[in-house]
Amino acid sequence: MPRFLLLWLLVLCLTISSFSSRPEPFALRISCGARENVHTPPTNTLWFKDFAYSGGIPANATAPSYVTPPLKTLRYFPLSVGSDNCYNIERVPKGHYAVRIFFGLVAQPKIDNEPLFDVSVEGTLINSLKSGWSSQDDQAFAEALVFLTDKTVSLCFHSTGHGDPSILSIEILQVDNKVYNVGQQLDGGVILRTVKRLNCGTGKPKFDADYNGDRWGGDRFWKPISTFSQSSDRVISVESKIKHASEPPNFYPEGLYQTAIVGTDSQPELAYTIEVDPNRNYSVWLHFAEIDPSISAFGQRVFDILINGDIAFENVDIAKISGGLYVAVVLNTTVTINGRTLTVVLQPKKGAHGIISAIEVFEVVIPESKTLAEEVRALQTLKKALGLPLRLGWNGDPCVPQQHPWSGADCQFDRTSSKWVIDGLGLDNQGLKGFLASDISRLRHLQSINLSGNTIHGAIPSSLGTITSLEVLDLSYNSFNGSIPDSLGQLKSLQTLNLNGNFLVGKVPVALGGRLLHRASFNFTDNAGLCGIPGLPSCGHHLTAGQKVGIVLGALTLLLLIVLCSICWWKRRQNILRAQQIAAREAPYAKARTHLSRDIQMSRNQNHPNARTAAENGPILLS
Ligand SMILES: *[C@@H]1O[C@H](CO)[C@@H](O)[C@H](O)[C@H]1NC(C)=O
Ligand SMILES: *[C@@H]1O[C@H](CO)[C@@H](O)[C@H](O)[C@H]1NC(C)=O
Ligand SMILES: *[C@@H]1O[C@H](CO)[C@@H](O)[C@H](O)[C@H]1NC(C)=O
Ligand SMILES: *[C@@H]1O[C@H](CO)[C@@H](O)[C@H](O)[C@H]1NC(C)=O
Ligand SMILES: *[C@@H]1O[C@H](CO)[C@@H](O)[C@H](O)[C@H]1NC(C)=O
Ligand SMILES: *[C@@H]1O[C@H](CO)[C@@H](O)[C@H](O)[C@H]1NC(C)=O
Repeated sequence: MPRFLLLWLLVLCLTISSFSSRPEPFALRISCGARENVHTPPTNTLWFKDFAYSGGIPANATAPSYVTPPLKTLRYFPLSVGSDNCYNIERVPKGHYAVRIFFGLVAQPKIDNEPLFDVSVEGTLINSLKSGWSSQDDQAFAEALVFLTDKTVSLCFHSTGHGDPSILSIEILQVDNKVYNVGQQLDGGVILRTVKRLNCGTGKPKFDADYNGDRWGGDRFWKPISTFSQSSDRVISVESKIKHASEPPNFYPEGLYQTAIVGTDSQPELAYTIEVDPNRNYSVWLHFAEIDPSISAFGQRVFDILINGDIAFENVDIAKISGGLYVAVVLNTTVTINGRTLTVVLQPKKGAHGIISAIEVFEVVIPESKTLAEEVRALQTLKKALGLPLRLGWNGDPCVPQQHPWSGADCQFDRTSSKWVIDGLGLDNQGLKGFLASDISRLRHLQSINLSGNTIHGAIPSSLGTITSLEVLDLSYNSFNGSIPDSLGQLKSLQTLNLNGNFLVGKVPVALGGRLLHRASFNFTDNAGLCGIPGLPSCGHHLTAGQKVGIVLGALTLLLLIVLCSICWWKRRQNILRAQQIAAREAPYAKARTHLSRDIQMSRNQNHPNARTAAENGPILLS
């Protein structure tokens, strides 16, 4: 029995300890442009040296703001390396993450000092830098809360033509899965982009780390704000302990609730306004704790909270809903904003005026669907095989963010797979010098391919014949050689086929030739030796290897015969010549024998030398 008790106690201990000692959250920090790992004060934070980027140039950095991590390098992306550049970070465990990117300024006077560009995470746009960002602490970075499920994260920077994107640091910080849960229907699937995070009170800007906050809450940046208007709202601050502050899942720092802004008689209504992008959904989180020493019971401070004029929370009594004094409470709501401003108003109802400790505003972003993975891989293979110039980029996802698709790839949303697919490839006149990989057929939604005007060499892949939706295939003015694959004849939808201006040889497939009768437009001119359809030379007979051997043997036999005949003829001629010589010298018989068939009469006459004379003189009687 004691043994069982011991075992039971052990199990209990293990269970308790496994509950209490939660593992540290995953954290990865990269110092962009750094050749070595970097440690920064005051917390000796480790920043990994730069890796996982798709392009760009390392440079020395000037930190734009006081809150920027004290790093000395950055990576910037001039247009010559393409308009879309990414960091593709692997081995990130599945989970919920705060992804934060600090921007930098290149320490070089020539380069436009404040670039404006777009930032995307996993194909979803999370930030468009606005001019003046480098002079405002809370705009020197982009931050978003993202669920990562496939062990990788792709962060991309998109040029908008206003300077070169330049990135100082990247942080991938795991947070609690339930952090900022914005409600049932939006749960799990949404990205929250940090718009504003304010701590109502005086003091320096602070991160969670400066407050000794729990790392499962991320490392949020809190900008201090001491007044909502020019007039006289008031800051109060206390040292007292605040109950229920740093609790899961959000783990807000206790210090946040030890200061607050309260309304005064000359400014009873507290109103805070920020600029936002119109026609988006925003999640607003408001933090409270009753820390005013003049309040001692429920009902002494009641107010309404309005967002853009609509009541979001009615009859708010902080002490009552939090269950006491010096107790933290958080209210959240999601609103659709049609205009360009978001205004939160605390409107006094009963007793003392409003009080507020902190405000957070997030944009609720629906993540983009990505491009079908197989088609992305096919495009990457093509990029390599065709030798795509750097300036075309082709980094990140081909179709999203929708504001920045790859140039040369046309996208279409496929409802059956809920993914983007590629339906057109337009890389005409791009100086491509490689070959066309047969993987192109894995882009099976292609309707149009135009690779005209490059120097693509090698064969036309016969796999093209499997892209059944193909309507336009323009490979004109390249260096394709070999013959036209028969498989192209299977493309029943093909309307335009331009193969002119290449080095193609051989017979145009019968199935294509027949199609010319229909309304399709095919061009086979200007090639090395195409044949077999009207307008092109007719083709010679096609011979099998056996036939070729036969012809060669035949020719040899003929040659042999000619040689033999020649020899015979020559021999005979020699004989004749010799015979003539003999005849001429001495032998009339020989001569007579030679011309025997000609004139026997004559021969006879010749046998009698005086016969001629006799004949001339008249008939003679032969005896
Ligand atoms: C960056 O600064 C260091 C000195 O701090 C200097 O040696 C180095 O050449 C600079 N790098 C660039 C790319 O300007
Ligand atoms: C905002 O939320 C509403 C309701 O949840 C939704 O119908 C609408 O599409 C959302 N708008 C945007 C821009 O996400
Ligand atoms: C945020 O508000 C929703 C409903 O509006 C609620 O279900 C949810 O629990 C709240 N989240 C937190 C962390 O308070
Ligand atoms: C392909 O691109 C070339 C060059 O831009 C253009 O002249 C040609 O019309 C295009 N082909 C088709 C079939 O549209
Ligand atoms: C086509 O050209 C390539 C070189 O570009 C050559 O290696 C190959 O043998 C050629 N193919 C044919 C069928 O002529
Ligand atoms: C076919 O291409 C040649 C140039 O290679 C061009 O001169 C001709 O006009 C084209 N034919 C048609 C019908 O487009």
